[in-house]
Amino acid sequence: MSASGVRQDHTFEAFASHDFYRVVNEHLVDATLQIRSHVPRPPIHRVLDLACGTGAVTALLVDRVRKLRQPVEVIAVDPSESALEKARRLVGNAAQFVKGTAQAFSNVVSGVDLILFCNAIHLLPNKDVVLSEARNALNEGGVIGFNSSFYEGCYVPGTERFYKLWMLRAMQLLKQETGMRPDRKKVEAMRWLTPDEYREVLERTGFTVDIMEAEQAMMTCKSWQDISHYSEFANGALPGVPLDVAIPVLERSVALAYQEMKITELPRNWLQVVARAV
Ligand SMILES: C[S@@+](CC[C@H](N)C(=O)[O-])C[C@H]1O[C@@H](n2cnc3c(N)ncnc32)[C@H](O)[C@@H]1O
Repeated sequence: MSASGVRQDHTFEAFASHDFYRVVNEHLVDATLQIRSHVPRPPIHRVLDLACGTGAVTALLVDRVRKLRQPVEVIAVDPSESALEKARRLVGNAAQFVKGTAQAFSNVVSGVDLILFCNAIHLLPNKDVVLSEARNALNEGGVIGFNSSFYEGCYVPGTERFYKLWMLRAMQLLKQETGMRPDRKKVEAMRWLTPDEYREVLERTGFTVDIMEAEQAMMTCKSWQDISHYSEFANGALPGVPLDVAIPVLERSVALAYQEMKITELPRNWLQVVARAV
């Protein structure tokens, strides 16, 4: 609850409703299905949405597999009960929702033909563990599609100033209004991987890369304000600052940065990857 007594939503739901976000995920889902369709047999019978969150990608996947006109089981996994609850509400019984983590799910979900793992791989410290789990869960000829906008290369050249300005304004507001400072010791040192490092992990864990490319999305100020409500993002941007303070500070400071830079949109790269189990 916030001070006003209104229950705050700290999931990814609001951000996931932006058009540019749906489009990058749609491209990944379609590309992954297309690569899998090159495998002559057997046909797809089970697909997994790993780290499904509030179900935006699960809904997309359900829509696409319906068009295959064959029975396909859709399973979705996430560790967050509140996100799963929203996903169940969005998708209904067209998918089966299971609580679990990307580090250890192959004992509960296996024999899958296709895995989608959207906007989450950067959250996990050990990519080898996750991709080995994915490899174990996949059938012969199985494919994985994953994407991330937190990797070495996600800042479009020329946009670095925006990120510095946003954080500068956020620190100033925080200090002026609360006297607080973020506690950098509280942030887990999570290094962003380069595309080549992702390729190396995939090859070490039994995959061959079919697609690895950057796709640009145009981010509005509102989309940054919505992602600021997501607890993982707010905690990463202003570590140690309580969410009911960090979220409004991030929302107001990003609006200042957009105003000062006189922009309405900012380009950001998403790394889109599709790999086949070998
Ligand atoms: C940014 S959201 C992405 C949700 C969804 N895949 C999408 O693209 O809209 C990241 C999700 O990863 C989940 N997550 C965090 N740690 C995880 C873990 N260890 N294993 C699996 N999922 C995890 C979070 O609960 C959250 O729902």
